[in-house]
Amino acid sequence: MGPAGQIIIVDRKSRIRQETAAALRELGFQVDEFDCGEAARAQLKKISCQLLLAEVSLLPGGGVEFLLGEDAILSSTAVVLMASAISVDDVAALMRAGAADFIQRPYGIEELCLRIEKALKVRFYEHEITYLRHERNVIYRFDNFIGESAAIKQVFALLNKVSASNASILISGETGTGKELVAGAIHYSSPRAAKSFIKVNCAALHDNLLESELFGHEKGAYTGASRQRIGRFEQADRGTLFLDEIGDMSLGTQAKLLRVLQEKEFERLGGDKTIKVDARIISASNKDLARIIREGNFREDLFYRINVINVHIPPLRERREDIPLLAEFFIRKFAADLKKNISSLHPDAARFLQKHHWSGNVRELQNCIERAVLMSDGSEIMVSDLMFMRDLNSSDASAETSAMFKIPPQGLKLDAVERALIVETLEVCNWVQKDAAAMLGISKRVMNYKVKQLGLANARWLKNK
Ligand SMILES: Nc1ncnc2c1ncn2[C@@H]1O[C@H](COP(=O)(O)OP(=O)(O)OP(=O)(O)O)[C@@H](O)[C@H]1O
Ligand SMILES: [Mg+2]
Repeated sequence: MGPAGQIIIVDRKSRIRQETAAALRELGFQVDEFDCGEAARAQLKKISCQLLLAEVSLLPGGGVEFLLGEDAILSSTAVVLMASAISVDDVAALMRAGAADFIQRPYGIEELCLRIEKALKVRFYEHEITYLRHERNVIYRFDNFIGESAAIKQVFALLNKVSASNASILISGETGTGKELVAGAIHYSSPRAAKSFIKVNCAALHDNLLESELFGHEKGAYTGASRQRIGRFEQADRGTLFLDEIGDMSLGTQAKLLRVLQEKEFERLGGDKTIKVDARIISASNKDLARIIREGNFREDLFYRINVINVHIPPLRERREDIPLLAEFFIRKFAADLKKNISSLHPDAARFLQKHHWSGNVRELQNCIERAVLMSDGSEIMVSDLMFMRDLNSSDASAETSAMFKIPPQGLKLDAVERALIVETLEVCNWVQKDAAAMLGISKRVMNYKVKQLGLANARWLKNK
C-alpha cells in the first residue's frame, strides 16, 4: 500500500495541535494544519483528503452547516470533530449531519489516533462496498455472458482453462462483442477476485497523461502535478489490470509498459523509488493488432507479452443462433427495469433480428431491445415493435444489400427477384402486409398493389376477411 493518507487538522495554534500532527505523521500520514475553517475549506477543494480533524467552534456555520455544505468537498472525506464544552444534542446533530466521530477535549493522543484509524477504516470499507456492488455483481459475471452457439462455447471452454492462471490475455473482437464483460468476468472468477479489477482506457489518454495514469507520479513531476498520484499499476497490485483499447497506446508508452511487464517493477514519474507489483494483465482491442504492427505503430515484442492467450469473440452475425437468446435476456432485463409486463419475443421478430447485420454487435442489439421494450404496449415483442431499426444504420443495410446480390454472369430477371423478395419478406412478417411494406420501405398501398399484381395469396388473408 502507498502512504497512509492525507489528513487536515483545524485547531487553534497550540502545543496539543502540533503534538497531534506529529503523532499522525509518525503513523505515516501526510498532515496539513490550519487555524481557521475557511483556509481548511480552500485546501479541501484543492487536494483529496481522507480525513478532516476539526475543532467544532472553528468550522464556518458551527459545524452542521459545514458538514451539509452543498459544494460536496467532503464527499469522500471522513470528518472527526472535537470540542470541550458542547451539549449532547449538538453532538447528536453533528453525527446526523455526517460526522464520523466526536472526541471530547481534552483528549489523549493515543486514543485520538485509534479513533482516527477506525474512522479511516470505516471510510475505506464504505468505498469498497459501493465499488464492489457496482463493479462486481452488476456487470461482470460469466452468468451474465449469454450464448450457446458453438463459437461461444469454444470461447467459454478456453476461458475455463485460463481464467485461474496468471497468463496475460488479449481479448480481440469487434466493437460491442463483450470484451470488457469477459475481462471482468475472468478477474472475478480468478483467485485474484478479492483484489481490484482496474481499468485503463488507453485510447482516452495520451503520452504523459497515460504514463502518469499507469505508473503514477511524484509531487512536482511536471507542471500541474501538485501532489503525488498512485498509478493504476500500483492499484492493481495482486489484482488485474485491464488495458482497454491497447492498440491506441503511443509507442513511447508501449516501451515503458514492456519494461514493466518484463521486470515487474517501475518508478513513478519524477520519482526514483522502485515499486514492485504483481498485476495480471488483460488487454483488449477492437482493432487488428497484426495490421497495426505491420504499419509500425505497435511493438511486436509487446504484442507477444500481452498475447500469451488470445481470446477472440466472434461478431454477432457469425453466431446468429445466439441472437434470440440475447434478445430474450435483454427483454427480461429491460422489462424488469421499466416495470413492464413483457416476457417474450415473437418468433417472427426473432427471425427478423437474426437477419440484421449487427455491425454494433451485442451492444447494438441491447440498445434495440431497450427501445422496443420501452415503446411496446403488448406482452410480447413483435416485428412491428422493431420497425424503427429500418431507419438506423442505412449504410449497414446497403452493405448488407450489396453483399446479398451478386449478379451472376448470365444476368437475372428483375421480376423474379422482386417476387422472391416480397414473398420472403411477407414470410418473415407473418404475412402481415403492413409490416412487410415497412421492412421494404414502401407504402402499404404499393405493397397491396404488388401482391395483387404477382397474384400472391395466403390463408391468413382469407381468414381475416
Ligand atoms: N454475451 C453477452 N451476454 C450478455 N451481454 C453482453 C454479451 N456481450 C456483450 N454484452 C453486453 O453488451 C454491451 C457491450 O459489451 P462490452 O462493453 O463488453 O463490449 P466491448 O467488446 O468492450 O466493446 P468496445 O470494443 O466497443 O469497447 C455491454 O452492456 C455488455 O454487458
Ligand atoms: Mg470495451
